[in-house]
Amino acid sequence: MCPRTRAGGAPNPNLPLVELRLTDVQTMFPPEVLGRLKQFLFCGNYGDALTARDTLPICEYLRAHNPKLRIKLVTNGSGRDAAFWSQLAKVVTTVTFSIDGLGDTNQLYRRRTSWNRVMDSVRAYLAAGGRAEWDFLVFRHNQHQVAEAEALARQLGFAKFNVKRSQRFLVDGQPADRFPVLRAAGGIDYYLELPTLPDYQNSGFVKLSSLQRRGQSYADYLSSTRISCKAMRDEQVYLSATGHLFPCCWLGQIYDSWPSPMAAEIRSRIAELTDGLDSLDLRKRSFAEIIDGPFFQDLVVRGWHPEAPQGRLSACGRMCGEIDTHSRQWESSSV
Ligand SMILES: C[S@@+](CC[C@H](N)C(=O)[O-])C[C@H]1O[C@@H](n2cnc3c(N)ncnc32)[C@H](O)[C@@H]1O
Ligand code: SF4
Repeated sequence: MCPRTRAGGAPNPNLPLVELRLTDVQTMFPPEVLGRLKQFLFCGNYGDALTARDTLPICEYLRAHNPKLRIKLVTNGSGRDAAFWSQLAKVVTTVTFSIDGLGDTNQLYRRRTSWNRVMDSVRAYLAAGGRAEWDFLVFRHNQHQVAEAEALARQLGFAKFNVKRSQRFLVDGQPADRFPVLRAAGGIDYYLELPTLPDYQNSGFVKLSSLQRRGQSYADYLSSTRISCKAMRDEQVYLSATGHLFPCCWLGQIYDSWPSPMAAEIRSRIAELTDGLDSLDLRKRSFAEIIDGPFFQDLVVRGWHPEAPQGRLSACGRMCGEIDTHSRQWESSSV
């Protein structure tokens, strides 16, 4: 379900292997720009901030130039040493650890992570006074461990434990209740399955599946639903590891692991720009130039119209349509 690989198997063949260095961040966020930001979230589409060489100096730079900035990081936690975690605790506001189970199950989704290293990271970070949250993605294979994990979170000193109900059970662009995990050499290794307990299912996703049963296809839904842009609502932008600025992380998903109409639609809008992807490069252009430019102001907005002549943006329908599967990840269906 993570586009870094093809369903857990071979690496995504379209993904550039890049990272932002401290000097990039200093160029893109000079102190006067930094002073105007409220929040900086390291989360990402295809990677994990732990693997970038300069994550710590970048956080220190942000903190030094904006003492009030909320600096947040979302990570699988499986990496780096105790010194890194205790330094990080001194500069960031919150680290969200994505831990989907306990010692025997976490690596079924968080493949090739080490439970012991995750726990070492958590302990070092919390011992240094850091504030942490635990995000627990529920699958059938870990639904019986939610209460135990929550108790462990409390015992370790997490400030919050969040049950997350995935909306990513899409196979060949259609809602499905199981998702194949592939081997790098080909063939299915095992399946990730929807939790069977209704409280751990994403109520929006359940609604999408019932649309299908009533005869409306998911593609029809995407092409007709009313869009309410979360990036505009939250006044946020997304900066990719390649240094390009997008309205949100969903439109930043242009390196598809399998051929996907969603990514192809976004790339075709980018191809309409005079300088293509370069027009969104924050190392070469200012925030104002990019945000006031044709991609943000025209090409994206055009894709929301009910009958967009050049076609709708399915990614916008999926993430910001009337059935809000994204926000419902954190909602219990029993409330
Ligand atoms: C792609 S991850 C990158 C950050 C970090 N590497 C991580 O795994 O949390 C960004 C966000 O995607 C979410 N995510 C990852 N897999 C998911 C899934 N199958 N369903 C829903 N959200 C998922 C994570 O919870 C995180 O908030
Ligand atoms: S997916 Fe589209 S509508 Fe949603 S936040 Fe991004 S740009 Fe806005």
